[in-house]
Amino acid sequence: MQITGRTVLVTGANRGLGLALAEALLARGAVKVYAGARDPATLGPVRQRLGERLVPVRLDVTSPDDRRAVAEACADVDALVSNAGLAPAGRVLDTDEALCRETFEVNVFGPLELVRALAPALRSRSGAVLFINSLAGLVVSRSSPVYGASKAAQRMLAMALREQLAADGVVVTTSHAGFLDTEMAKDVPYPKASPEQVAERSLAAWEAEQAVVFPDRFAEMVERALLTRAREALDEPQRLMTSLVAALEREARA
Ligand SMILES: NC(=O)c1ccc[n+]([C@@H]2O[C@H](COP(=O)([O-])OP(=O)(O)OC[C@H]3O[C@@H](n4cnc5c(N)ncnc54)[C@H](OP(=O)(O)O)[C@@H]3O)[C@@H](O)[C@H]2O)c1
Repeated sequence: MQITGRTVLVTGANRGLGLALAEALLARGAVKVYAGARDPATLGPVRQRLGERLVPVRLDVTSPDDRRAVAEACADVDALVSNAGLAPAGRVLDTDEALCRETFEVNVFGPLELVRALAPALRSRSGAVLFINSLAGLVVSRSSPVYGASKAAQRMLAMALREQLAADGVVVTTSHAGFLDTEMAKDVPYPKASPEQVAERSLAAWEAEQAVVFPDRFAEMVERALLTRAREALDEPQRLMTSLVAALEREARA
């Protein structure tokens, strides 16, 4: 999927990785980027800076009304970047039911229903979907286990969508990012990748139609461990992640 000349919708585009993705899409030649935000007014200064190819749209991914309105207003969309996410911190039994359900609404059901709403447009143009997932959806998250569970569910849906939509020429890619220097990970004490780097590498893999991408140094370390230490990843994922974080810190100090 070439980004040049395409129209792309990005969810959660008002800050963090979503904003970096919107900027990188424009830099790669997208003709239009629909920038989804719960409050599109927050995109005012960004639009002034990036110009009229950035089109703010109101989109709370958990809102059926918003999803319906976006599918109508953005009928020319070629591709979707499903980026919006919620990552509550706290041990699993300390995360109350309402927050567990909200996390799954934002990270799983909202994205799934958005793909369903946009599927006619995506299919008619042989478009593409990029899911911004996390290492938490692949191995484990010690600090945000409910988030990890929701991202694991998102990963399985993305894999199934990749298979189902391939028949219509729609490519689905999943990016498993490590720790990012954004608001979401502000309390994470480990070395973090820049959202700009992760946006660039995720989009390059999307253009190359890869199923999965590991878009930063820590993600690469985890990918390698999954390939070489699979037994440990299955039996003792927390211990594996602890040792990999220690290796990341050593590397950052060197
Ligand atoms: N930060 C990390 O370490 C990290 C690591 C791996 C993967 N990721 C993934 O990267 C993606 C972006 O995260 P980030 O690091 O940029 O986090 P962030 O700075 O907290 O930004 C989260 C974005 O999601 C939006 N959002 C939250 N709930 C929404 C909803 N119901 N509908 C629409 N938008 C909603 C937020 O909008 P508001 O401004 O309205 O709240 C914001 O734009 C997420 O999918 C996350 O899981 C992050």
